[in-house]
Amino acid sequence: MERIYLTTPLYYVNAEPHLGHTYTTVIADTLKRYYLSQGVEAYLLTGTDEHGDKIAQAARENGTEPKLYADRISAIFRSTWDSCGISYDHFIRTTDSYHVEVVQRILTKIYEAGDIYFGEYGGTYCFGCERFYTEKELIEGKCPDHLKEPTYIREKNYFFRMGKYQQQLVDHIRSNPEFIRPERYRSEVLAFLREPLEDLCISRPKSRLQWGIPLPFDSEYVTYVWFDALINYVSGLQLRGEDFFRAFWPKANHLVAKDILKPHGIFWPTMLMAAGLPLYERLNVHGYWIMDSGKMSKSLGNVVRPLEMKERYGMDAFRYFLLREMVFGQDATFSLESFVTRINADLANNLGNLVSRVLAMQQRYFEGIVQPLGASRAEEDQQLREAFVRAEADLESHMEKLHFHRALEAIWGAVDSTNRYIVQTGPFVLFKEPEKRPRVGEILHHLLEALRVTACLLSPFLPDTAEKIKSFLNISTSVSARHPVWGGCFPPGHTVRKPIVLFPRIETEA
Ligand code: MSP
Repeated sequence: MERIYLTTPLYYVNAEPHLGHTYTTVIADTLKRYYLSQGVEAYLLTGTDEHGDKIAQAARENGTEPKLYADRISAIFRSTWDSCGISYDHFIRTTDSYHVEVVQRILTKIYEAGDIYFGEYGGTYCFGCERFYTEKELIEGKCPDHLKEPTYIREKNYFFRMGKYQQQLVDHIRSNPEFIRPERYRSEVLAFLREPLEDLCISRPKSRLQWGIPLPFDSEYVTYVWFDALINYVSGLQLRGEDFFRAFWPKANHLVAKDILKPHGIFWPTMLMAAGLPLYERLNVHGYWIMDSGKMSKSLGNVVRPLEMKERYGMDAFRYFLLREMVFGQDATFSLESFVTRINADLANNLGNLVSRVLAMQQRYFEGIVQPLGASRAEEDQQLREAFVRAEADLESHMEKLHFHRALEAIWGAVDSTNRYIVQTGPFVLFKEPEKRPRVGEILHHLLEALRVTACLLSPFLPDTAEKIKSFLNISTSVSARHPVWGGCFPPGHTVRKPIVLFPRIETEA
């Protein structure tokens, strides 16, 4: 049995779910549904990252304790993904006791092996990023992310001998071209590794920060939040037992945005090497969603919230835009205007109209009863069938490369062919001649079959829409795209339902 293990980043609980978090979570869900439809056993992990300065500070600002604060925001993430229909298998929190145990076990192992040592370090530290910055990394003396001057601090801490694994990591990346993808991020990591890799400070003294996992070998210190959080990918699987871990871990595919390339592409694999664990299979890195109105922020009032999008336009419309508009690996722009244009053109007009047109004809001409196919081998019928065979093959090769936008284009190519088929065959004209009615029945049968396969191909991307189409067709939702016989799905006398509007046109105030 083939397997895949998909992960999202563990989101910090200092912000509520927005467009960016939703994108990564939606692609993870789409991949999981896609692999399941291919007969692959898929496991999807998501959750929240709850320790560290950032969270302690956010809790203080909210006048509460870090754990209570984390409980509240973590629950919001979880219920948001539930409402959005995300098919995660497990939701992990870095404050979960089994996770804490695994972190401490790995720390002990690496410490006992001599790859963690005690030392003194002075440097410029950004509290927002929770890390030290070298002079070279600062822009005009400021942290490039927070645009604030970092603070100089000097303290004794524990360090992980990350530098020791530099060559091993370079060799692995060189001999596994798909380890980090797309290529631009792989090159970025390799470029970074051309300079000597420094050791990583993995502790914070309790005098400065208490909100973290205590180091098992020194109770005066807590674990650096990244060293803790990355281990979730292991603890979230080990929770299901050692056999489960062994089965899925080699197929681990992390999904992250470019902001956290370095911890995932450098810290994490070297930590795994030191812990004596095999490396993940792939790190899949996407770009950033940029708001056309500027950086997404509460103060600008342009934060896109998944539940608001779902309520206003439906989750599938939101999913469609996210998957269709971003080229995996590159940045994309979000604007309500482009959202409305896309949804109206592709979903309301193209797909929506096709579905209602076909079902309306079936009602009007045959009271919903599907007519026999007969032995006709009309050229147009063959072409329609081939359009779907092609779409399915194209979809597979695009999904292999995480080209979600192309996969959707492939499906819409088949939808276009179906619309063309209606124009070419002209059932509404033929129906006027009584002796041509059996052919009209046949054409509609082909069209219903096209809708059936469309629904099957769409289901990982737009699961609710796929179900709706299948229910209009009055067929089981488990029917797969690979039905061996084109048309064999509707037995004699099968009746399809009347359509209801799939995607209402979004009207905007002019
Ligand atoms: N807690 C760390 C991750 C630890 S993983 C072991 C973290 N959390 S975060 O809440 O800041 O989430 C960052 C991730 O959220 C990005 O890598 C991406 O998946 C998603 N996004 C947040 N904003 C985004 C955009 N504007 N655009 C696209 N995705 C972004 O980093």
